Amino acid sequence: MAEFDLGSSFIPALHKPSTLLPIAKHHDNLLYLIETYPVTIVVGQTGSGKTTQIPQFLEHAGWCSDGKIIGVTQPRRVAATTVAIRVAEEFGCELGKEVGYSIRFEDVTSASTRIKFLTDGLLIREALVDPLLSRYSVIMVDEAHERSTSTDILLGLLKKIRRRRPELRIIISSATLQAEDFLSFFSEHSDGSEPAQDGEDKVGRIISLEGRTYPIDVLYLDSPTEDYVEKAVSTVFDIHTKEPDGDVLVFLTGRDEIDTAIQAIADRSAQLHPKSQSIMALPLYAGLSTEQHMYVFDAPPENTRKVILSTNIAEASVTIDGIVYVIDSGFVKLRAFDPRTGIESLTATPVSKASAAQRAGRAGRTKSGKCFRLFTEDAFQGLPDANTPEIQRSNLAPFILQLKALGIDNVIRFDYLTPPPAELMIKATELLYSLGALDEYAKLTKPMGLRMAELAVEPMMAKTLLSAASFGCLGEMLTIAAMTSLGGSVWVQRDGEKRQTESARRKFAAEEGDHLTLLNVYQTFVTKGKKESRFCHENHLNFKSMTRAVSIRAQLKRYLERFGIAEDESLKTSSAGRGEQVRRCLTTGYFAHAAKMQSDGSFRNVEGGTVLYAHPTSLMFNRKADWVIFHEVMETGSKTFIRDITKIEKKWLLEYASGFYQAKS
Ligand code: CDP
Ligand code: MG
Repeated sequence: MAEFDLGSSFIPALHKPSTLLPIAKHHDNLLYLIETYPVTIVVGQTGSGKTTQIPQFLEHAGWCSDGKIIGVTQPRRVAATTVAIRVAEEFGCELGKEVGYSIRFEDVTSASTRIKFLTDGLLIREALVDPLLSRYSVIMVDEAHERSTSTDILLGLLKKIRRRRPELRIIISSATLQAEDFLSFFSEHSDGSEPAQDGEDKVGRIISLEGRTYPIDVLYLDSPTEDYVEKAVSTVFDIHTKEPDGDVLVFLTGRDEIDTAIQAIADRSAQLHPKSQSIMALPLYAGLSTEQHMYVFDAPPENTRKVILSTNIAEASVTIDGIVYVIDSGFVKLRAFDPRTGIESLTATPVSKASAAQRAGRAGRTKSGKCFRLFTEDAFQGLPDANTPEIQRSNLAPFILQLKALGIDNVIRFDYLTPPPAELMIKATELLYSLGALDEYAKLTKPMGLRMAELAVEPMMAKTLLSAASFGCLGEMLTIAAMTSLGGSVWVQRDGEKRQTESARRKFAAEEGDHLTLLNVYQTFVTKGKKESRFCHENHLNFKSMTRAVSIRAQLKRYLERFGIAEDESLKTSSAGRGEQVRRCLTTGYFAHAAKMQSDGSFRNVEGGTVLYAHPTSLMFNRKADWVIFHEVMETGSKTFIRDITKIEKKWLLEYASGFYQAKS
C-alpha cells in the first residue's frame, strides 16, 4: 500500500475498522440509550456486531474510567473464549490484559482487564462473593434468546441487583424478537403488577439493528431421510461439484456425528478428480481446544472449499465469514431432564422454526446463499416456533443450590422469566436434601451445603469431594473430579488408529471401572508423561487435556484447603483398599445415578424404567457387572448411553443414601 505523507497527525488505526458493520450507525443512539436507561435490549441479526463492538463502544465512552469493568456473558464457554480473542485483537491488546475472558477453571484476566467475557454461570458464581456484582459498571447478557437456565437465573438476579444498584447498566442482546418479553420482565414489579405507564417509566428501551442480509434460497428434501449425517455428506459433495465457490456450514448435533461426517468426507474426497478443487472439512464443537476452534475462522488455502461441521455453536454465538451454503440437519442436542427417573441427558431434538431461520441466515451474510434443509417442508411446518426455555427441562439442583447460597431461600418465589415446573423444583430439592446440602426445612446446611455451592463442580461431584477426606482418598478424588471436569475426552483418536487407541486405553484399565482408570491415566501422566514428550503421543493421550487436568486439580485442591479440608493421614488405607474407598466415596455423591446390569448386558436404573447402555468408550462396555454408578448420560440415536461407570455394591446405596432409596420404595 502507498504510504501517505500527511505528517504525524495520522496514526495507524488501533482497531480494525468496524464501520462496515450494521451496528456502526447505531453507535450514538446505543450509547445514549445506555446512558439514559438502566436496561437496553439490543436485537440484531447474528454478525451485526453486538458482541464484539458494544463492549468496545462502552469502553471508549468511559464506562470503565472509574476502575469498573464491562462484563459480557455467553451461554457457551467456546463463545466466551473465541470472542475474547477477537476483541483483544481489535482492541490491540494481549489477551488477558484490557480484554480477557473467564470460564470455569480458566481465568484469563488481570488487574488491567476492562472488558471481560465470561459464561453466565460463572457470573452467577461471582455473585456468591460479590452479591451486588459491584465490580461491573455494565453487564451485557449476550445470546439471551437461547434461554439457557443460567441466563434465566442471571436475569432474575440482575433484576434484584438493579434495585440496589440503580447505576448499573444492563444490556440484553438477542438475535430474535423476544425483546418485548425481556423488557416487560425488567419493567414488572416483583409482585407481578405492571408499572403505571404509557411506556414513560419503563426501565429500558429496545434498539433494533437491521442487519444486511442477502437473499437465501431455502431448499427442502422431497422425502424424509433416514440418516441425516450421510445425507449431509452427500449434500456437501453435491454442492462441491455443482455449485459455485463459497464455504459450507453443516449443522449436526454432536461430536460423534461430526467426527463420522468428517471421516466420510475424507474418504469420499479421495474419489474427486485430482485437478478439482479440494475440500477442507473442519469440526466446531465445545470441547475442542482454543487453537482447534480458531482454525474455522482462517481463510482456506488456495483452490480449496472450506466445510465446517458444527453443533449449534455456529447458530448464533460464533460468526464465521464466507459461508454461502448451509446444510441443516434440523436437529439439535438439548438438555432433557426426566423428573420421574431423575436422569438428565442430552437428546437430539428437532429444532424450532426460529432456530432453522437463524441457521439459514448464516448463509446470506456476504452474498446471496443457499440453505439445504435435510427435512421436508411438511416437517418444517410441524416444528415449534421456539424452543422451550432450558429451565423447564433441566436438572435444577445446581441452580437451586446457587440461589440458596445467594440467600434466596424461597426459590419458588424467585423472579423467573419463565417459572420452572413444580416437579422439577421438587426433584431438585429432594436430591439436594439427600446429598446433605439442604436440611428438612429446605434450608442450606452449613458448612456442607454452602461448600457444595462454592465448589466449581456439580453438586454430586461436590459431595463426593467433600466426603473424600473421611474415606482417606482425597488425593484420588481430586484427580477423578479434575479428569471428569475436562468437558472432553483425554484420548485422541488419530485417523485410522481406532484399534491402537483402544489398546492404549486398555493399558490403564482398572477392573472396577472408568473412574479408577482415569486415576491410573493421571497418575502415570504426572510421573512419566509430563517429562517425556513422547508419552502422550505413544499412549494416544491429549497432552493439552492432561495439562488442563493438572491445573483443575490444583484449583479444586485450593478450594478444599480454604475449607480446611486436607488428607487425614491416619485414615489413609493401603493401596489395595484404596479402590474400595474411592468407590464408596463416589457412591456418597452419585447414588442417584445408580444402575443394575441385566442379563442382556444393558442397565436399568433403580426405578427400573429406563434402559441404559454402557457407552462404547467405557470400560464397562461388553463387560460383566452388577451394580454401578455413572457420571453422565448421553443419548445418541435411539439409545441412552451412560459414561464413566464404576462398579459398586448394592448395600452401599442403603448405607450412604438410605433416605433417598427408602423414600422411593
Ligand atoms: O454478536 P453479533 O452476532 O451481532 O456479531 P459479532 O460477533 O460482534 O461479529 C461481528 C463481525 O465480526 C462478524 O460479522 C464477523 O465478520 C467478525 N468476527 C470475526 O471475523 N471473527 C470473530 N471471531 C468474531 C467476529
Ligand atoms: Mg454475538
